[in-house]
Amino acid sequence: MSATAGATAFTARIGRIEISATMAINNEATTLRSQGVDLVDFGAGEPHFATPEHIKQAGIEAIQKNFTKYTAVAGIKELREAVTARHKQDFGSNYSFEESIVTTGGKSALFNAFQVIIDHGDEVIIPVPYWVSFKDMVEFCGGKCAFVATRADEGFRLTAAMVEKALTPRTKIILLNSPNNPSGAVVSPEDLTAIVKLAASRGIYVMSDECYVYLDYTGRPFSLGSLTEYKDSLLLMGSLSKTYSMTGWRLGFALAPKAVIGQLQKLQSQSTSNPTSIVQKAGLVALTASQQCVADMRAEYIQLRERIVSGLRTIPGVKCNMPEGAFYAFPDVSEIAARAGINTTELTSRLLRDGHVVGVPGEAFGLPGHIRFSYATSASEIDRGLERVRGFFASL
Ligand SMILES: Cc1ncc(COP(=O)(O)O)c(C=O)c1O
Repeated sequence: MSATAGATAFTARIGRIEISATMAINNEATTLRSQGVDLVDFGAGEPHFATPEHIKQAGIEAIQKNFTKYTAVAGIKELREAVTARHKQDFGSNYSFEESIVTTGGKSALFNAFQVIIDHGDEVIIPVPYWVSFKDMVEFCGGKCAFVATRADEGFRLTAAMVEKALTPRTKIILLNSPNNPSGAVVSPEDLTAIVKLAASRGIYVMSDECYVYLDYTGRPFSLGSLTEYKDSLLLMGSLSKTYSMTGWRLGFALAPKAVIGQLQKLQSQSTSNPTSIVQKAGLVALTASQQCVADMRAEYIQLRERIVSGLRTIPGVKCNMPEGAFYAFPDVSEIAARAGINTTELTSRLLRDGHVVGVPGEAFGLPGHIRFSYATSASEIDRGLERVRGFFASL
């Protein structure tokens, strides 16, 4: 059999998706580092903090106590109860533990929920800019993305009227991600409520990816779960990754109607099974112990946000909104790209090769003309990176 005949043996669905753009950039950065190049890394989509000590200790203790066997597929009951109790306390939701499932990171909650709800030809409304994986997750199921553009000069504001225009009879899900990766934009509680009411009136779901909900700097963090009367229309996706700096542990959850949880449980039982047992014990402590570590990390992000945004705003040709949440700045660099006669993928690639700063091009998030810079790093790295960006842009 020829090499090409072998390649055609892959499924149509795997052919519909691409390797994550952030992974491709990380690979390029790793190659440069291995050649001894000193890079400033604004590429990472994860906190720079160590996992808090008490959470690590809980994981160690779980191993020492031999809590190392299979658990219930949907997670141990104490953890599911802790997830719903914390959510109730922080956002006024009223989920029972049967309306929850714990998953291998927020990503698997999202991936599995799409598998359960989206069939061939079904549509998912996705505001732009969007997190890199949403599009591929939907297309992997054979679904279609209906993109809704938001504007940088309107702070990427999403309204119910914008969503309504994108609705068709095939719409199954309105996907929201507030605070947003990559823009850091926060949808106001009023707009969120209007969107949920719209979805409920059409009998479709709002899937809300709330993995940055604790990194909201507006002073009024909001989860759709607080709209308890619309519970039947909501699929809430959560993660401990960013909140507790636990990205490598892989722990997330979904809160949804019991029937949906039943389907997620079925899919999880035939794929990953339970999230790692020792990680569940660590997650239990993360959710039930003092939340001071979350407040401390949030306070530091607020300072880092000011530092990177005020620095970016002094670079000629760069326009930057003040992000209201998450840990990304998403400046408009279209003027610089145009001056150099290249697109932002090429600009980001040259910034890496020649300027030695890692960023992610707006193309990965459906919005060319921008670059995402993660400010989850030290203040001194932000300063070093800003000087390099300034120097490199000036050289074009
Ligand atoms: C918007 C968004 N959703 C979900 C995830 C997945 O997080 P995890 O699988 O680590 O919980 C990420 C991670 O970068 C994200 O940015």
